Amino acid sequence: MNLLLTHIKELIQVRENAPLKLRGKEMKSLPTIKNAWLYIKHGKIEDFGPMETMPPHEGFKTLDCSGKMVLPTWCDSHSHLVYAGNREQEFVDRINGLSYQEIAERGGGIVNSAKKLQETSEEELYSQSAARLEEIMCLGTGAIEIKSGYGLTTDAELKMLQVARKLAKEYPITIKTTFLGAHALPPEFKENKDGYMDVLCNEMLPKVAAENLAEYVDIFCEKGYFSVADMDRLLMEAKKYGLVPKVHVNQFNSIGGIQSAVKHNALSVDHLEVMTDEDIKALKNTNTMPVALPSCSYFLSIPYAPGRKIIDSGLPLALATDYNPGSTPSGNMNFVISTACIKMRLTPEEAINAATLNGAYAMGLSSSHGSITKGKVGNVIITKKIPSYGYLPYAFGSNLIDSVIINGEEIVCSF
Ligand code: NIG
Ligand code: FE
Repeated sequence: MNLLLTHIKELIQVRENAPLKLRGKEMKSLPTIKNAWLYIKHGKIEDFGPMETMPPHEGFKTLDCSGKMVLPTWCDSHSHLVYAGNREQEFVDRINGLSYQEIAERGGGIVNSAKKLQETSEEELYSQSAARLEEIMCLGTGAIEIKSGYGLTTDAELKMLQVARKLAKEYPITIKTTFLGAHALPPEFKENKDGYMDVLCNEMLPKVAAENLAEYVDIFCEKGYFSVADMDRLLMEAKKYGLVPKVHVNQFNSIGGIQSAVKHNALSVDHLEVMTDEDIKALKNTNTMPVALPSCSYFLSIPYAPGRKIIDSGLPLALATDYNPGSTPSGNMNFVISTACIKMRLTPEEAINAATLNGAYAMGLSSSHGSITKGKVGNVIITKKIPSYGYLPYAFGSNLIDSVIINGEEIVCSF
């Protein structure tokens, strides 16, 4: 629980008074201390400074971090980590020429995962999901949001959220949960969207709220899935239960989802691969965090969210994985950060800010996570010996993490 890191080559994302989020030009700066120490006490960041200021430390558990960087663990604000099985066949179908939308129209996609999940026991779903969670912790993630949305029946949606809750209880990583019953139309409601909307609003939402299974509500607002009117209805209803919106918008089409989300004071709008100037304008001077998911663009070969333009417009930006079996079968935030630099032209400073402090904001955690600040959780990544923090996105694909500390405790990694 108490741990002193010494001789840190560079302590990254050091903020005396951390802002809740960073926007526009603020994202260019990443404060650091070279040749530093960091003390974590009772799982929280107690103090830090340059080596010459290190207090006497008789009897402390210490770790020599010579040549290594230390930074806050990644904050992954968008994932669907609880799912059953995989969708390798659709991966091959896409290689052979089918599009993501064509696969969904043939009954594949989200509905395919829902069928698998409905047939999987809660215990099995837990064990598959726990293995993924253990992997992403070892990849440096210290807080994650997990969505439902592969259940599509009341029982299966509750099962997913219960599994996420159990993971939160069993593992040290902070987990936030989101109700995404409005992810796709289940086959039995194919010709009756309003009927499914009734189930979402009148059956699922009240149960999710009564069992306190989610803090956030999400909807896939997209042509062929749910309309802006559906989103308005669901978010209005969810508000009665105190659920805050975090929504899937603008993945394939710009249909007004951002404007509606902002009106409902959404905490985040996620995907954003297709953005008009009006969409960017709608996000200005709001509390809503734009979230880009570059590994989804990579996997589906679709456009990247215009991260450079979003930041240059003075907006904040967060980065997340979107870990799910269909569009992003990877929970690797290190890859997300590299891809944001390489494909979206973010600088390493911007990408690290987007994956730490702004990611924390996008799941309501920025007063406790996302920076090296006294009183925040003792969650840090210790890198291998690397020349600079810019080397993290630069050397894409290498595992540059030496160890991960969550709440002051080193995570044991078998990966
Ligand atoms: O965020 N786009 C909507 N939902 C998920 C993917 C769902 C799936 O294909 O299973 C996403 O990309
Ligand atoms: Fe998603």
